[in-house]
Amino acid sequence: MRGEYCIVGASFLSFAALLLLIFVHVGQINTSTVPHGISMAIVNVSGYGEALSEATNDTIQGLYTANASSPFGQGTGIRQQYAFGLYSYCAYVNSSAGQCSSHTIAATFQPYTAITSDMLLNYSQLTTYIFVDTTFINSSYLGTNSHVAYYFLLLGTLFTALSLFTGILRSTVFFLFSTTMSILSALFILIAAAIWTAIVKKVESVNTMQLAQGIVSGIKVSYGSGIYLSWAAFACLLAAIIPSMISCCTFRG
Ligand SMILES: *[C@@H]1O[C@H](CO)[C@@H](O)[C@H](O)[C@H]1NC(C)=O
Ligand SMILES: *[C@@H]1O[C@H](CO)[C@@H](O)[C@H](O)[C@H]1NC(C)=O
Ligand SMILES: *[C@@H]1O[C@H](CO)[C@@H](O)[C@H](O)[C@H]1NC(C)=O
Ligand SMILES: *[C@@H]1O[C@H](CO)[C@@H](O)[C@H](O)[C@H]1NC(C)=O
Ligand SMILES: *[C@@H]1O[C@H](CO)[C@@H](O)[C@H](O)[C@H]1NC(C)=O
Ligand SMILES: *[C@@H]1O[C@H](CO)[C@@H](O)[C@H](O)[C@H]1NC(C)=O
Repeated sequence: MRGEYCIVGASFLSFAALLLLIFVHVGQINTSTVPHGISMAIVNVSGYGEALSEATNDTIQGLYTANASSPFGQGTGIRQQYAFGLYSYCAYVNSSAGQCSSHTIAATFQPYTAITSDMLLNYSQLTTYIFVDTTFINSSYLGTNSHVAYYFLLLGTLFTALSLFTGILRSTVFFLFSTTMSILSALFILIAAAIWTAIVKKVESVNTMQLAQGIVSGIKVSYGSGIYLSWAAFACLLAAIIPSMISCCTFRG
């Protein structure tokens, strides 16, 4: 009987992991409540204008837009907050109103590109000048890493689903396959979560960067809930492997 419990336990944990991963995938695909709340990284630039103004001793005009639907990438003004998901990013003018970029598979995390494309030329040049040499501006590095992390996350999600569905079938061949999938999925989700954590951590250095003596950048980069959900999914998958192993040795073997 114990083996049966182990399989039920492992299936339950795999199911929980799959649900968490599905939530990670829907982050920022549109602006409705659940996708709005889930992202991999958040860049809040609401303080940047004031910091620039203090650092340059100049009034900053036309940096922001208050129009949530003005098009992206045309220098119409930056929004208060940019949130990045796996398939698109969304930008919000306040806590509720915003819009999302078009969906692309493996949308990459390139906050500098997204934000400066909304700025007038004089501000994007100033911003490039200020952040040269930071990871924030290194879009090719961030793009490559988030792209790779996406594929690990996608495969990890597929393997989780395969492991869950084959784990229910009562046959030794499927059982071995299911255990293999469950180990691989844990490994892939671990890699994806680690890459995302590392790149957001690196970009976070702009939070404390000084534009001038005593004036911090006014940009706040933070981990999105999608990163925490990925780690939670990894924990579930890891925990699911243990009962699988026990049942492999006692029940099936
Ligand atoms: C900033 O500009 C004001 C008005 O133009 C001037 O009085 C002030 O000295 C300037 N401050 C600095 C630090 O340059
Ligand atoms: C906001 O931007 C959209 C798209 O450019 C435009 O159609 C609309 O009139 C703007 N709204 C306001 C209040 O300016
Ligand atoms: C951005 O940060 C500011 C200052 O911490 C905060 O007041 C504001 O609510 C944040 N913006 C959003 C959209 O969360
Ligand atoms: C956010 O902005 C939109 C459009 O400018 C406005 O209609 C809405 O009332 C604002 N919401 C909040 C909470 O300020
Ligand atoms: C940037 O250009 C806009 C529009 O031409 C102007 O209103 C603004 O004052 C300029 N800002 C700076 C810092 O040059
Ligand atoms: C971006 O980061 C990579 C890897 O750290 C580095 O090799 C490259 O020189 C950086 N590019 C810029 C423009 O800083």
